Amino acid sequence: MRITMVGTGYVGLVSGACLADFGHHVICVDNDASKIEALRRGHIPIYEPGLQDLVGANVAQRRLTFTTALSEAVRGSDAVFIAVGTPSRRGDGHADLSYVYAAARDIAAVLDGYTVVITKSTVPVGTGDEVERIISATRPDADVAVVSNPEFLREGSAIHDFKHPDRIVVGTADERARKVMAEIYRPLSLNQPPMLYTARCTAELIKYAANAFLATKISFINEIADLCERVGADVQEVARGIGMDNRIGNKFLHAGPGYGGSCFPKDVRALIKTAQDHEVPLRILEAVTAVNEVRKRAMARKVAALFAGSLRGRTVAVLGLSFKPNTDDMREAPAVALITALQDMGACVRAYDPAAMEQAKAILTDVAYCADAYVCADGADAVVIATEWEQFRALDLGRLKDLMACPVVVDLRNIYRPEELAQHGFAYTRIGSPPPTQAVPSEAALGRTIQRAPRSLVVSEP
Ligand SMILES: NC(=O)c1ccc[n+]([C@@H]2O[C@H](COP(=O)([O-])OP(=O)(O)OC[C@H]3O[C@@H](n4cnc5c(N)ncnc54)[C@H](O)[C@@H]3O)[C@@H](O)[C@H]2O)c1
Repeated sequence: MRITMVGTGYVGLVSGACLADFGHHVICVDNDASKIEALRRGHIPIYEPGLQDLVGANVAQRRLTFTTALSEAVRGSDAVFIAVGTPSRRGDGHADLSYVYAAARDIAAVLDGYTVVITKSTVPVGTGDEVERIISATRPDADVAVVSNPEFLREGSAIHDFKHPDRIVVGTADERARKVMAEIYRPLSLNQPPMLYTARCTAELIKYAANAFLATKISFINEIADLCERVGADVQEVARGIGMDNRIGNKFLHAGPGYGGSCFPKDVRALIKTAQDHEVPLRILEAVTAVNEVRKRAMARKVAALFAGSLRGRTVAVLGLSFKPNTDDMREAPAVALITALQDMGACVRAYDPAAMEQAKAILTDVAYCADAYVCADGADAVVIATEWEQFRALDLGRLKDLMACPVVVDLRNIYRPEELAQHGFAYTRIGSPPPTQAVPSEAALGRTIQRAPRSLVVSEP
């Protein structure tokens, strides 16, 4: 089958490469000429495990090509996917559909023979109707079916997710289109993923409802974590205890600094807006998003609490910048609000991330970017673990302590055990368990003279 992928970003590139790997002939189109040029040179513009090899292998087998020329690609394609961005619209939080509609117009102009146009971008209910209207207004003669096929892959495990989906949702009432979609995903039939055929508007809503539900789980456990800190309970044990209940499940119950990334924040906002337009306010989701918004900055106050509320003149080493491990995606990463808040409180921030520093430099300018975790911690008053990259899970704690001006670790991902850090003499605090009992040692006790205003070095009470 010949397939065009319009939009060669995270979703378009991964989906295009995987579909080529299934044996289809895929042309990935993007209007960013530098991106296409880089891909042709073999450079992958995003960090995603396994993607370089997958793209390389399929390019070598001539099943995967890249172009800026939409018309060349669409002519003769059986299926055309739209995988362009749908960011939050500035000002009101609705999904910005201008890229989707522009792509629909461009595709319509060059359609040739029966073609299935598939929206893979996350789009609000009714977008498929508008895409259909745009295509028939541009090309009344076009023989086309517009299908919704939302994507559920996760950054960091995108290839695995695309090839082993929990389900494939297909929204269409067109029998021919259904056959084309079945053919596209037929190579997955060995794994027998459930194909859910449904109405187009239902498929569109399934994607938003799924992301909104996951975001709700995160905000829920984050609020429970705050309560745990007050009452002396441990949120990880609470999460285990409720996650063992099959009706609840143990996924997305990790308390942390709030959800970020390219999808959850914008999708929850967009769903709230869609619902408001239909006069069905989604109060739970309004709370979910409000809880998340305030949480990221609140993490800086957690750091300050260890220094009697003041970070002026302190150096804070932030480990991890991307919104989650195994990606360089900085979109709405909690580390951005955290670092800005730390700086607002007067701290100097040093940072290290295994993959996202180039992306971060464009957003966070007043930060000292370091070569590794130890360089980052050198001379710091506190280390804050903001993203749970594997390489931060087994830091050499003795070395870390020797390097730091003050042995303080704030673990926003709960990857260490308090006893372990206490044994090494760290003052350690995490999410959703009682605050540390170990006082932050004074500089005098550490035998260091630091030219700063005197500070009170006691762990503050909750
Ligand atoms: N990133 C994820 O993890 C993820 C997961 C599931 C769904 N989604 C959804 O998929 C969609 C794409 O997300 P993404 O993260 O891949 O976005 P992205 O910003 O990484 O990529 C979008 C690409 O589309 C290109 N583009 C825009 N208009 C174009 C046009 N008219 N013609 C050709 N190319 C055009 C851009 O240059 C860019 O390269 C969004 O709706 C998103 O919500 C994303």
